Formats: sequence, C-alpha cells, structure tokens
Amino acid sequence: MNTGLFGQPLTNTSPANGLGRRDHLTFRGNVAIGRHGWLRLTPAYSLHLVRELLKQSGPDETVLEPFSGTGTTPLACASLGIRCDAVDINPFLVWLGNLKLTRFDNGTARAVKSAAGRIAEKARNPRTAAWKPDLHQIEKWWDAPTLHTLAALCDGIRKPPRERAAGVSDLLSVAFCRVMIQSANVSFGHQSMSFKKNGEGGGLVPETPAHAAERIAAAFVTAANEVADSLDVEPPTADCRVVLGDSRDLSAALPAGKQRYTAVITSPPYPNRMSYIRELRPYMYWLGYLSDGRAAGELDWKAIGGTWGCATSLLNSWKPSGPGEIPFPEFNRIIREISAGHMLLGRYVHKYFEDIKAHIVSLRKVLAPGARCHYIVGNSKFYDTVLPVEDIYTALFEDAGFVDVRVETIRKRTSKKELYEFIVHARALSRDCRVNG
Ligand SMILES: C[S@@+](CC[C@H](N)C(=O)[O-])C[C@H]1O[C@@H](n2cnc3c(N)ncnc32)[C@H](O)[C@@H]1O
Repeated sequence: MNTGLFGQPLTNTSPANGLGRRDHLTFRGNVAIGRHGWLRLTPAYSLHLVRELLKQSGPDETVLEPFSGTGTTPLACASLGIRCDAVDINPFLVWLGNLKLTRFDNGTARAVKSAAGRIAEKARNPRTAAWKPDLHQIEKWWDAPTLHTLAALCDGIRKPPRERAAGVSDLLSVAFCRVMIQSANVSFGHQSMSFKKNGEGGGLVPETPAHAAERIAAAFVTAANEVADSLDVEPPTADCRVVLGDSRDLSAALPAGKQRYTAVITSPPYPNRMSYIRELRPYMYWLGYLSDGRAAGELDWKAIGGTWGCATSLLNSWKPSGPGEIPFPEFNRIIREISAGHMLLGRYVHKYFEDIKAHIVSLRKVLAPGARCHYIVGNSKFYDTVLPVEDIYTALFEDAGFVDVRVETIRKRTSKKELYEFIVHARALSRDCRVNG
C-alpha cells in the first residue's frame, strides 16, 4: 500500500485509524514563524504541512491557492522562492496576505518602530474621543478606557502628521490588530471565538483610565517592534500575490494569461458552520472592511460555507440544482438524514457541495497538464450522521476528470471519535485537461 506525506496509508476512501491530535499540523504551529505569526486567525492552517507538500516542488512550479485565508501557502512559497497566486473572497484577508508578501526595504522596520512610539505617546493622553467602529455591542468587547485608547491608536495610524513610507501604516495596523484582539474580552479556547465569562482571568477588570491607556499604548509599541523585527525572518524572495475573487469561477478571478498552475495547495472552508466573517469581525470593523451587520452577512453568503447573519435567511430561499448533481452515491440519503434533524442544515450541506463542485470544475480550466492538487479538508458530524467530506471531494475530483485521487488521514480534530483532517490528493490529466472543459 502507498503511504502519504505523514506515513499514513493512501487509500481511495477514508481510513478510520487512531491518529492523535498532532497540533503542529494546525495553525498553532505557525505563531512563532515571522510574518506567519502576525495575527492568530482561525482560518489559518499548518505551515509545516505546506512546507512538506512543497518539498515535491521544483524551480518551475507555479502554485495556486484558491482559498488563501491568512496567506499561509503564498507566504510559504514566497519564502522558498516559488511563484504562487492566491485567491480569497474576503478583502481583509486579501490585504493581509499581500502585506505578508511585500518585499520591504531596509528602512521600513525602523520607520514602523519610530512611528509606533509617536502614536503611542499621543494615545496615552488623547485630547478628544476618536472614531470607533460600529461593532454590535462594542462595550462587550472592550471596557471604556481600553476602547478609548484603542480608538486613539487607530486615529494615529489613520491620520499621520506627515506622509509615511510605503507599507508603514499597514504594518502599524497589524500591530494595532494584535493589541486590539489581545485586549478584547474574548477567548480562543474553542474552535471559534467566544466572550469570556467573568472570572475567566480577563473579564472586565476595573482599572483607572490612565493605567489602561498606559498598558494599551505600551502593548502597541511592543507589538509594532515585534512586527518590524519579523520582517527579516524568512522574507519573501519570489513575486506572489493574493487577488480578490471567487474560487467558484477561477478563470474570472485569476490574472489572464497566467492560468497554467502546476500545483494547488489549499484548505477550503469546511462544512462545519464556522463563519470566518464572524471570527474576523473585530479586525474587519476596525480596519474599515465592514461597517454594518448586513454587509457582514452578505459577505458571508458569498463565501463557501458561510452562515452568519442574513446568510442564514438567504439559505432559506436557496434551491438545490436537483438530485444527482453531487456524484456521490450516498449523498441524497445523507442530506435526507441531516434535513430530518434540521431542514436548513441539510440545505447548508447541500449548497456547500454544490459550491465546491463549481470550484473543482472551474479549477480544471486553470491547471497545467499533470498538475498536483492537495486539499486539506475535515469531515463533520450532524446529529448521528457523519458527513464523509473527504470521500465526497474524491467523487467530485473524479467526476471532473482528475486522476490518482487519494485520501490521506493526517490528524484527529477533536475528542469526538469520528472527526479527522485529511489531505485529498488529485492530479490533473497529463494531456491538456481543458479538452472537455
Ligand atoms: C480554511 S480558510 C483558508 C485557510 C488558509 N489556508 C490559511 O492558512 O489561512 C478558507 C478561506 O476560504 C475563503 N473563501 C470562502 N469562500 C470563498 C470563495 N468562494 N472564493 C474564494 N475564497 C473563499 C474564506 O474567506 C477563507 O479565508
């Protein structure tokens, strides 16, 4: 039997083996590595995993990452001198990804540090109240003195007294985001973000406004220094970029004329009802990528697997294309079982796979013959029904004309027995795979 990258058997169905949690195969392993560690965002996946997959790459590789997220794949490629184009539907993540991929000149780190010192000085004693985002129940996120100082820092970044060198304000915004989220009354103990309960060591601690201002301003200077110092760690040496677009139509999303990718390394959204918009809200509101709840829900509706705000009600009126659309023999039974528990959940799963199908069909058209694809996916469980995500991906790849489709089980995701993470490997046909497209 073939073995995969991590010594696990490669099969064409998912093996139920006894793998442990293997946290280095998640984003937790990225936090200390230069720009990868800037922000601890839930969408990220493991840099270690991407590097293992890139070991197979030669100098002529051109990688595609259709679900860029925090930019793990393009940054790993850029640091190794490998070309990569990435796509994401979220403009905040496109901004962050491109910032990580920027080749800064020597003076940038110094400029960031000295601007941070000046901004912090002013924020320690702000004269007037500055702009704050219209985030729902913002007082649950930060107490009043903390919020006041954050607003003053944000104001100092947005309104420089004189023009700054390219990238400096953006890097200061990353430092701001670190402080903003560290000082928020939220916890990341679970898969997604939640408000801390009183007594969880970070609830709303009484503090004088002057102390709060000093603490937050000092944290900002520290964060700016860390961001500045990280610029030299494994810096990008190849031109890579992230474009704003929809991976269900890659020909439209990607730059024309560059659409012959030799490898795909990605982690698409999982069908687990986790909303990236919900998770990323504080960053997106503070940096001006969102200004109201309606826009948040609409963006989540455009994203595959989104269910935040109005995305849920829009799902109510969504109609599946019809039976047989998803070429997996058990699919209709699975949807019936999940729908029996909750009709909307069945529809959610159905739409997720129709979206992934559109993505895989559009992928064929932008790949070079023989291109290798690696999809990191997780399965889900709804009520008593396990959703064999990896097997449905396998069926979708085979249906779209890909060959050598194999599943590798890489880690257990939670304490629940049935939840694993897998790599679905597939190869585009050696002949021009666009013949039938
Ligand atoms: C699991 S995350 C990607 C994680 C990424 N590999 C990383 O390390 O950060 C999935 C990403 O897909 C994006 N996404 C969802 N629907 C999309 C679509 N239709 N087109 C492009 N990107 C989409 C989400 O915004 C999210 O950033």
